[in-house]
Amino acid sequence: MRVLAIESSCDESAAAVLDEGAGLLAHELYSQIELHRAYGGVVPELASRDHVRRLLPLVETALARAATRPEDLDGIAYTAGPGLMGALLTGAALASSLAYAWRLPAIGVHHLEGHLLAPLLESDPPPFPHVALLVSGGHTQLIEVAAIGSYRLLGETRDDAAGEAFDKTAKLLGLPYPGGPQLAALATRGTHGALSFPRPMLERPGLEFSFSGLKTAVLHAVRAGELTERRRADIARAVEEAIVDTLAAKAMRALDYTGLTTLVVSGGVGANRALRARLETSAGAHGARVYYPRVEFCTDNAAMIAVAGLARLRAGQHAGLGIEARAQWPLDSLPPLAA
Ligand code: KG4
Ligand code: ZN
Repeated sequence: MRVLAIESSCDESAAAVLDEGAGLLAHELYSQIELHRAYGGVVPELASRDHVRRLLPLVETALARAATRPEDLDGIAYTAGPGLMGALLTGAALASSLAYAWRLPAIGVHHLEGHLLAPLLESDPPPFPHVALLVSGGHTQLIEVAAIGSYRLLGETRDDAAGEAFDKTAKLLGLPYPGGPQLAALATRGTHGALSFPRPMLERPGLEFSFSGLKTAVLHAVRAGELTERRRADIARAVEEAIVDTLAAKAMRALDYTGLTTLVVSGGVGANRALRARLETSAGAHGARVYYPRVEFCTDNAAMIAVAGLARLRAGQHAGLGIEARAQWPLDSLPPLAA
């Protein structure tokens, strides 16, 4: 079975071709970061218009690189949510139109299921069941993954997502959008322990997160004195340490709670080096092993949508002729994979 996948839920336009036997044959991506930078965040209408321009050429390139003709395909997967409504509709409309024209089944994929399954693209994929720490710009969740399609939410953030906390505090430090990677780079020049921000929810039992208080703490630190280069780096370091500490501690708690020994980390923040290093150490001490997608598959991409789409098409699921797009879509409302 071979599928074409399209991703357009936020500010990345992407297309990929995945073959069940031969693996990932092509993946193309265009990031709109430059387009949105002047505004300090994603402007939904600009994102939609740009997806309209980029998607079809990306699909053509992916198919050409994969030496795949439409008749070689068995289905088309597209991100159906959650995400920006207009952006989702561009990919959904394109995928549905191609599926109709090429007489193929289409499947609307849950973006977070894509993130969760991204590590399956690697040569050493994680075993099931496992605990997944999903850390993106919009979500921070701990999920028990019994199998593909079987997800139980263990805990999530009450307010800001981890990526959002990185981005918002980065903005307070005057860093350009998207702040996460920039803040991480600045943090490497900061001194460990020079400042310390609260680790929200750490002292409380349970698997919930809260990151909104971090913005206030950073704002106070920024206003407290002269914002020298060294102080900016120290603040960045302290922000990263607070987020990493919290994520690692709760992930270990989730392993204890479920009795599982495999942790999967995915989503954009999973690209963070300090987080990866910390989880490696903590999991090791816990007798557990951590799996990640390669860095380029932590952030949004179409390869992960292809993995989820292929699994669901293989199980006989597909969308009708309608165009599916949902801004909100709880992960645990997905149908199980077994028919
Ligand atoms: O998964 P993703 O690409 O998009 C969503 O589905 O949200 O995640 C994007 C988020 C952004 O908040 C970005 O700042 C953050 O991931 N991010 C990072 C790093 N790379 C991306 N945060 C911290 N350190 C990084 N290296
Ligand atoms: Zn994402």
